[in-house]
Amino acid sequence: MNVPKITKIIENKREARNIITITFRYPEEIVPGQFFMIWIPDVDEIPMSVSYINGDIKAITFRKVGDATSALYKLKPGDKIGIRGPYGNGFKMHGKHILFVGSGTGVAMLAPAVEEAVKNRISSTVVIGAKNKSELFFEKRLKKCGARVVISTDDGSAGCKGFASDVAKRILKKEKINTVLTCGPEVMMKILLDCCKNIPFQASLERYMKCSIGICGQCCIGKGLRVCIDGPVFDGKTLKKVEDFGVFRRDSAGRKIQF
Ligand SMILES: Cc1cc2nc3c(=O)[nH]c(=O)nc-3n(C[C@H](O)[C@H](O)[C@H](O)COP(=O)(O)OP(=O)(O)OC[C@H]3O[C@@H](n4cnc5c(N)ncnc54)[C@H](O)[C@@H]3O)c2cc1C
Ligand code: FES
Repeated sequence: MNVPKITKIIENKREARNIITITFRYPEEIVPGQFFMIWIPDVDEIPMSVSYINGDIKAITFRKVGDATSALYKLKPGDKIGIRGPYGNGFKMHGKHILFVGSGTGVAMLAPAVEEAVKNRISSTVVIGAKNKSELFFEKRLKKCGARVVISTDDGSAGCKGFASDVAKRILKKEKINTVLTCGPEVMMKILLDCCKNIPFQASLERYMKCSIGICGQCCIGKGLRVCIDGPVFDGKTLKKVEDFGVFRRDSAGRKIQF
């Protein structure tokens, strides 16, 4: 499991500006919220959440930000990548009505969770947040699966003007929501956690990762939690005790980077 398996890219599909989905064959079972380590030969190995699950066929959806994601972005169908995993825990879905709040590339890893919730007849409302219209993706996919989708953009170029957390707050005030699941900028997720006083809450965190199997300590948060094996999904009760949540992350050398 901890050795990369080589697989070929089947398809690469542009979703939005600088965001693509790469599809490949990888038979290992995976649940929404878990992640792979993706090895890009001669470049790097990076964590990526699963964004699509259909039997042996899986996908990742990512934004081009630095060396590894730029190299991955350039690969074509037929090119080889290495994959290990799945790693981490995944979402727990319960209740009659789940509110999913995804902002930026956070929407990517929420999509398979939404599809599973709808399949299990759980009412699913999804707030998709982006900076502007050109960065929105997965709206059609999530509507097609049967979820109710609400769009928000920072500049108002599509949907409601404002942050995903503002839209989510309005929904939380008006409707009976049993669980909130979120992935996106940590400051946004922290605001949401503070609004969910009595509502079960789960958030997926991103931290710089090296081993992804709990050995190196690179991804530690709070008092001895490792995001790669104790997360990446944490519940609200746990996050309330994690002083780094929404405040800082660490770079590859362990230095604190404020959000
Ligand atoms: C469990 C997990 C799942 C992830 N899933 C996805 C996904 O589905 N889609 C996606 O687009 N990205 C995802 N990421 C983030 C992705 O791994 C990073 O964007 C990638 O490693 C950057 O590599 P790079 O060499 O291109 O950029 P780098 O040169 O390493 O970094 C470019 C910039 O991004 C910042 N950065 C790098 N990694 C992170 C991070 N983990 N958290 C915050 N900032 C970071 C750096 O500080 C730098 O400013 C995930 C991360 C984790 C930990
Ligand atoms: S990445 Fe090494 S302990 Fe998590």
